[in-house]
Amino acid sequence: MIRVGIIGCGSVAGFGHAPAIHRTSGVELAAAYDPVPGKAQEFTQRNGGQPFDDLDAFFSHPLDAVSICSPVGVHHDNVLRAAAAKVHVLCEKPVTTTREHAEEMCRAMSFADRLLMVGLVYRFSHAAQDIRRWVREGVIGEVRSLRLVYLWNLHGQWMNDGSGKWIESPLWRGRMLEGGPMVDCGVHQIDLARWWLGSEVVRIHGAGAWVSNYEAPDHVYAHLDHESGAHTMVDMSFTYGHTAKEPTSTFTYELIGTGGVIRYNREGWKLEILDGSNTRAVPGASEKNFEGMYEAWRDAIQTGSIGDLPDVEAGMRAMEIAQEATRQAIEQRVAPSRPATIVS
Ligand SMILES: NC(=O)c1ccc[n+]([C@@H]2O[C@H](COP(=O)([O-])OP(=O)(O)OC[C@H]3O[C@@H](n4cnc5c(N)ncnc54)[C@H](O)[C@@H]3O)[C@@H](O)[C@H]2O)c1
Repeated sequence: MIRVGIIGCGSVAGFGHAPAIHRTSGVELAAAYDPVPGKAQEFTQRNGGQPFDDLDAFFSHPLDAVSICSPVGVHHDNVLRAAAAKVHVLCEKPVTTTREHAEEMCRAMSFADRLLMVGLVYRFSHAAQDIRRWVREGVIGEVRSLRLVYLWNLHGQWMNDGSGKWIESPLWRGRMLEGGPMVDCGVHQIDLARWWLGSEVVRIHGAGAWVSNYEAPDHVYAHLDHESGAHTMVDMSFTYGHTAKEPTSTFTYELIGTGGVIRYNREGWKLEILDGSNTRAVPGASEKNFEGMYEAWRDAIQTGSIGDLPDVEAGMRAMEIAQEATRQAIEQRVAPSRPATIVS
């Protein structure tokens, strides 16, 4: 049994990691750490394991591996602590903010002779796995264009409090300091594009829109040219519909090839292949699969073979591309926008 400890008992640890650990045979949730007093206790009451608010005490507990679910700014420190404790690490995306940190993390983990993998969980969705296989089999010929779109209201300034009153969202302030939508979420899509195509990004063009007057653009477009000649467009928003009474989201993948199109829509988990002879609808799936990721991680720890798990280089490339697209968007901003207005 692989004894896993969770570092950082917030949102993703609760909805993604803990349930997946429980559903994956061969792994168990042994401990959880959070520096906020009482948070680990609350978390372990719901999910099991020993609670800790002291990191030394957490690492004194018998563990084989840790899942790092803390904010990106402290991933580096937590990985170094895990390396010193000689445990395997699954680190949430974005893996870290600088290449120097990434290299230091890899050196420490390699010295500890333990695995360091990045939790880019979209890779394990059945839809993403099918798409990867179809691209390799050439079912739509040669893929020339990818359009990966995710528009949602995560950090919009305004929210309806349910009684019809508009209030400022508690998630609005500060969150964009983590890098904005392309860094925070777009790393998944950028990783998928590189992984599906097996082709490096050689040119990046980023542009942005300020719908809600953040310190970073809340809507970022990345245009990426791959070595193969294919082009990827990633379109990400954190404020889509934040002034609408009922915000909705758009989450789609489109792969356009010389012999057809593959389309995925999270709405209804629709997955289709359109080629010269047919339109085939195949069973879709959620865009995330934490359980699949934990199965792969368990197998990697047991066999040493990482399978589809992203390594630090993959995580870091996605991060650097997202950072560069965001940097260009900010640098090329034309004019400050006025604050968002609510129209009713
Ligand atoms: N893959 C996904 O679907 C997904 C979804 C959400 C978040 N994430 C990623 O997971 C990470 C955490 O995001 P979240 O939304 O759960 O954030 P969160 O703010 O909800 O939770 C983070 C937790 O880490 C704790 N923390 C703060 N400093 C810490 C430290 N030094 N060491 C350990 N813990 C510390 C906080 O107290 C908090 O409980 C981020 O890297 C984020 O990008 C991934």
